[in-house]
Amino acid sequence: MKDYLIAPSILAADFARLGDEVERVLAGGADVIHFDVMDNHYVPNLTFGPMVCKAIRDFGISAPIDVHLMVKPVDSLIPQFAQAGASIITFHPEASEHIDRSLALIKEQGCKAGLVLNPATPLHILEHVMDKLDVILLMSVNPGFGGQSFIPHTLEKLRQTRALIDASGRDIRLEVDGGIKVDNIAEVAAAGADMFVAGSAIFNQPDYKAVITQMRDQLAK
Ligand code: DX5
Ligand code: ZN
Repeated sequence: MKDYLIAPSILAADFARLGDEVERVLAGGADVIHFDVMDNHYVPNLTFGPMVCKAIRDFGISAPIDVHLMVKPVDSLIPQFAQAGASIITFHPEASEHIDRSLALIKEQGCKAGLVLNPATPLHILEHVMDKLDVILLMSVNPGFGGQSFIPHTLEKLRQTRALIDASGRDIRLEVDGGIKVDNIAEVAAAGADMFVAGSAIFNQPDYKAVITQMRDQLAK
């Protein structure tokens, strides 16, 4: 089977019991913890920052932490998240004045680097940075909130992005974020994604392991 990664978004977790929630999804078979940072400026919502990332890392979590920055500006937060234990840092190109510099900063800090494309952000923004990317994250909803519905045209965009990655010959993860559920994950994988963020689909169910297992079963088909 292909090497697929499931990344629960703790945006949908119970923040009053965050350490336990993270442990439970990892015990349930999650590969990566997706950490949504929102600033009430780039997106109209406010979540958590480096201190909370560090608290999760210090809780004893060894899994990769995938920090999705929905903030503007981005650069000052990159070293802070690297020091807080981030493994992957992604940002939206619209939020950085100097995309190449921000990507280089992430790498200098020892993290994997990625760009996040909103549903209406064109793929040509990737053209001159493919050699610097470890991850491309396609948003399948407009960023800012969990629990939204998957935007269907993302499937075609995934296919096009997969073709760009394959043509580059580089080992770049194709991550998808927003509205991923048990009943659409197989179709999303078939379109080329290999890393799946899921918030409400996992945390809104009582048995996280059961949902993650169902997702893996869909991916094995
Ligand atoms: C949205 C966030 C997502 C969100 C996904 O801006 O980037 O990671 O948590 O939530 P669901 O899976 O509920 O659509
Ligand atoms: Zn996200």
